[in-house]
Amino acid sequence: MLKTFRIIAPLLGLARLPLAHCQAYSPVISCSELTAPEVEGAVVVDMTAEETTSGGIDVCNANVYLTHGDAGDRVRVQTYLPLRGYTGRFQGIGGGGMLAGFFDGNLSSSARSGFATGSTDAGRPNGTEVDDSWAGNEQLLVNFAYLSVHEMTVVGKALAEEFYGQPVKYSYWNGCSNGGRQGYVEAQRYPADYDGIMANAPGINWDRFLVADLFPYLVEVSENEFPSSCVWDTITAAAVSACDNLDGGEDNIINLPFECHFDATTTVGQMACDTIITEVYARMWNDITRGPQDNHGKTVWGGLIPGTNLTALAAAEPFLIGQVWVAAFVEFDRSFRIDTIARDELYAEIDKSERMYRSTMGGDDPDLSAFRDAGGKLITYHGLVDQILPPYGTINYRAQVEELLGGNEAVNEFYRLFLAPGVEHCGAGNGAQPSNPFAQLMDWVEKGLVPDVMPATGGIGDRNLCPYPKNLVYTGTGDLTVASSWRCV
Ligand SMILES: *[C@@H]1O[C@H](CO)[C@@H](O)[C@H](O)[C@H]1NC(C)=O
Ligand SMILES: *[C@@H]1O[C@H](CO)[C@@H](O)[C@H](O)[C@H]1NC(C)=O
Ligand SMILES: *[C@@H]1O[C@H](CO)[C@@H](O)[C@H](O)[C@H]1NC(C)=O
Repeated sequence: MLKTFRIIAPLLGLARLPLAHCQAYSPVISCSELTAPEVEGAVVVDMTAEETTSGGIDVCNANVYLTHGDAGDRVRVQTYLPLRGYTGRFQGIGGGGMLAGFFDGNLSSSARSGFATGSTDAGRPNGTEVDDSWAGNEQLLVNFAYLSVHEMTVVGKALAEEFYGQPVKYSYWNGCSNGGRQGYVEAQRYPADYDGIMANAPGINWDRFLVADLFPYLVEVSENEFPSSCVWDTITAAAVSACDNLDGGEDNIINLPFECHFDATTTVGQMACDTIITEVYARMWNDITRGPQDNHGKTVWGGLIPGTNLTALAAAEPFLIGQVWVAAFVEFDRSFRIDTIARDELYAEIDKSERMYRSTMGGDDPDLSAFRDAGGKLITYHGLVDQILPPYGTINYRAQVEELLGGNEAVNEFYRLFLAPGVEHCGAGNGAQPSNPFAQLMDWVEKGLVPDVMPATGGIGDRNLCPYPKNLVYTGTGDLTVASSWRCV
């Protein structure tokens, strides 16, 4: 009796055991036996599934192709199902720029960590980060804006359930930039898709920020001056020294950029490499960091934050994704050049893009109540010196969610935002870099460990990044490179 019990118990108990990090599930069917899942609103037109070795891991590589009504689109959903080491978790991988997803290389690293994992091309097999092939195509717009990430998730979870013989235990989104926007869109439109969403430097407000990104270039055009990066870097370095100490600790990073009211005209006459900083350059730096204004002099979208490297947007050519967006999507004229718009008229182009695309590409619906009620957790870090996507949109969005859903503490129960001083777009920069936000998200979802701070590390030393709206200030004592020398206020 006892003997029988010992043999059977582990078999019966297996599926009900709490998921431990080391626990692995095995496939119950072979890869080639996988069948195409049902996807509401779409038709599966093709499917392949074969065992492959990718990035050093053996996976079942499934590709499902979807179409919608008579749109004629063909959306690829790729799913990797690891043959060994599957932990019961699914991970959706976001894209970047105008790409909806990343495939084999990204999927294999996720599969190596024990995830069943997927990504989608949103119906653009030859898509690139700068790809206007979908301009004017309503289905491809909807696919990229929100539909394809949802369908990818439905497909990926269904394939995992079939392959391993049990439902996915925990599902996670992982994306930055456009991938961050996709994560917010999932939380807003498909609140039951993911238990945990990591959506960094989210490209929400796509309709507006991409157009506003052209402002620095138009400032150059209007002055007919295209300063070298040495000029910008020299003025920015002066801004950093002027505002570094606002947080009490001199670490060459501005922790309180919104309290930094640096006037670049104080640098006029200084040398920047072999160039003298002129009044025109200084005025341009001031204008670029203030952002585009409407015809009443009101700033309509935030500029680059003091400390940010201006060269990505204030260069000899317009920011390419923004230029392509305005030409192909807003003006429907691929030969349209942004420099035919005066800098003081850019606000009208921002408005136009917003009217046309906010409802699809905006990703800024603050009603996250369904996501919250489904038990979802959302974590975001956004670099304060993001040189492509300054965090104003993220901050505004967060404020709207707080207003709608009961204030800061209530929202912190399920959604945490960390602004990262000295961090650029999706990482890099001189600031301390978030150490492992995805692991923090998993701990929050699976163990209820709340990410009170976000540990970060880098050249300046360690920091514990603060949950919004708190900021890091120096305690006044202790080594500046040690996290405990700083506190959140
Ligand atoms: C996916 O791969 C691209 C290109 O190699 C990389 O830039 C990006 O950070 C990766 N994204 C994720 C979510 O791992
Ligand atoms: C993608 O590129 C391939 C190879 O160049 C081409 O055969 C195919 O027609 C392209 N597909 C689309 C949808 O543009
Ligand atoms: C700013 O960006 C430009 C272009 O990427 C680069 O050449 C320059 O070194 C950067 N400046 C600093 C201070 O990192």
